[in-house]
Amino acid sequence: MIKAKIAVLVSGGGTNLQALIDAQNSGIIKSGEISLVISNKPDAYALTRAKNAGIDTLVIEKNNNAQKFESDIIKALEENGIDLIVLAGFMCILSERFTSRFANRILNVHPSLIPSFCGAGFYGLKVHEAALGYGVKVTGATVHFVNEIPDGGKIILQKAVEILDGDTPEVLQKRVMEQAEWKILPEATEMVAKQICEKR
Ligand code: GAR
Repeated sequence: MIKAKIAVLVSGGGTNLQALIDAQNSGIIKSGEISLVISNKPDAYALTRAKNAGIDTLVIEKNNNAQKFESDIIKALEENGIDLIVLAGFMCILSERFTSRFANRILNVHPSLIPSFCGAGFYGLKVHEAALGYGVKVTGATVHFVNEIPDGGKIILQKAVEILDGDTPEVLQKRVMEQAEWKILPEATEMVAKQICEKR
């Protein structure tokens, strides 16, 4: 079987990228292979994680030119024959021009139970601040396909996580990552990679 070629797009620490690398090493991801990591931030620790795993990396910065930014990413994805794009802590919203080109081929992990606490402006710790501010007792994470609506594409997997008394945004973020994101992102990636392989 020819594995699906996966590109992971990152902006920060890359713990979700690490979960994908670990899942590939342990055989949870077996229908796909991470062959490229692209960061929009040159100092993202995710780049070090990729290099440590022997994965090719690229830095593509936005520099106030969204069209060129997206064109450069598309060029890199096409040159590398990428089948599946995983947004793992990638803090940029992609235009319809980009998302429609890769329909049902882009996954994103979001740290809440969509449709709560999602959409433009809800990213990273802000999502957990909003959940705590609202006072919900259960939150979680969602993996979904990416379309032109921020966090609006079809849901693939979700997992609920309890909120405990005294949680801070940082404590909650860590629990949501450990109990939900690092599990459902590799699982969903394998599911979609398998479907891509079966369709070939
Ligand atoms: C993760 O919690 C991810 O779900 C979130 O940013 C964090 C990145 O951490 N993404 C978003 O909020 C996207 N809207 P990581 O770099 O350690 O994977």
